[in-house]
Amino acid sequence: MKKHIFIIPGDGIGTEVTACGKAVLDQIAEDGGFQFTFEEGLMGHESIEKLGTALSDETLEKARNSDAILFGAVGHVKYDNDPTLKIRPEQGLFRMRKELGLYANLRPVILFDELLNASSLKPEVIRGTDILFFRELTGDCYFGEKYRSEDGNTASDLMIYHRYEVERIAIKAFEAARKRNRNLCSVDKANALESSRLWREVVQDVSRRYPDVETTHMLADAAAMQLIKNPKYFDVVLTANLFGDILTDEASQIAGSMGMLASASIGEGTGFFEPIHGSAYDIAGQNKANPIASILSVALMLEISFGLPEEAKRVTDAVGHVLKLGFRTGDIADISSDPKKILGTKEMGLQIINSLKHSNFHSREVRY
Ligand code: IPM
Ligand code: MG
Repeated sequence: MKKHIFIIPGDGIGTEVTACGKAVLDQIAEDGGFQFTFEEGLMGHESIEKLGTALSDETLEKARNSDAILFGAVGHVKYDNDPTLKIRPEQGLFRMRKELGLYANLRPVILFDELLNASSLKPEVIRGTDILFFRELTGDCYFGEKYRSEDGNTASDLMIYHRYEVERIAIKAFEAARKRNRNLCSVDKANALESSRLWREVVQDVSRRYPDVETTHMLADAAAMQLIKNPKYFDVVLTANLFGDILTDEASQIAGSMGMLASASIGEGTGFFEPIHGSAYDIAGQNKANPIASILSVALMLEISFGLPEEAKRVTDAVGHVLKLGFRTGDIADISSDPKKILGTKEMGLQIINSLKHSNFHSREVRY
């Protein structure tokens, strides 16, 4: 198997975490006799500084023509502190999502048993949580018309959905629910928003084609509450762009940290794989970031874009094994963690690679 992977480290900790993701891909290639080739491109703050745009046409084309994209993060404190700046790092990410037609963002929330105490929620509440979010990614107020009045005192972002946009992601979510526990909760704000009433109507229509899947509808505020009250209630959650953004950050706390949540953006073009976390400038360049979200994003790439579920499982198992051995990055350590086992980004990446080597050495059947 030959695959060309385009890596966009982006800003902040993006560089450090994607380096670990790439190392895992190298190991998988070596073990499986696959030929993975790599190329890197700029997006975000660094691209603005060097090229004057958050995403150049050239980088976009290279991404489009690759077999999969591994992305780190975008964002910089400079823009956070100055909302008047017109060219912004996130524009690169939005352009990429739109141009590649990446309308479905899959965000699995999986809690490794070893991290039960890393969460601020009670272990008995979160144990066994396994949720798959389908966040719509190319519509909503992210992409609706933006307006700022001439005097600068009024602004709006149009929250807009078309039937086909809701339908296509709903189909993907229902198909996934069929392979899981056949339970789909669609989250909207239909008691207040017209776009949510369209959303609900379309999801109801699609649900008739999936009588074997139990479909429920929940308001976004209630879902935010239910997510920490009883996360095991959820199997597949289908939701719009903005609600999905907010709810998955919340859900990451069930898994212990933002640093644990991977994502896959799919749709029409090349698959795009990225942690849900941001550029974390406060810890960038300090070898402190958790690379697990990037490594689990690689697992999603192997399964979804390359059709290698066995290899994907090896990667996830290797992460589980390293956690079982007690190794942690700072964000997932708790008071019972052995201080000698609190690792930096690189060292955590190396432990996971070691574990991969070990699982391959014994046989493919070895499962931790
Ligand atoms: C995410 C991020 C982005 C988003 C930011 C960086 C614009 O928070 O992927 O969740 O809001 O989509
Ligand atoms: Mg987000």
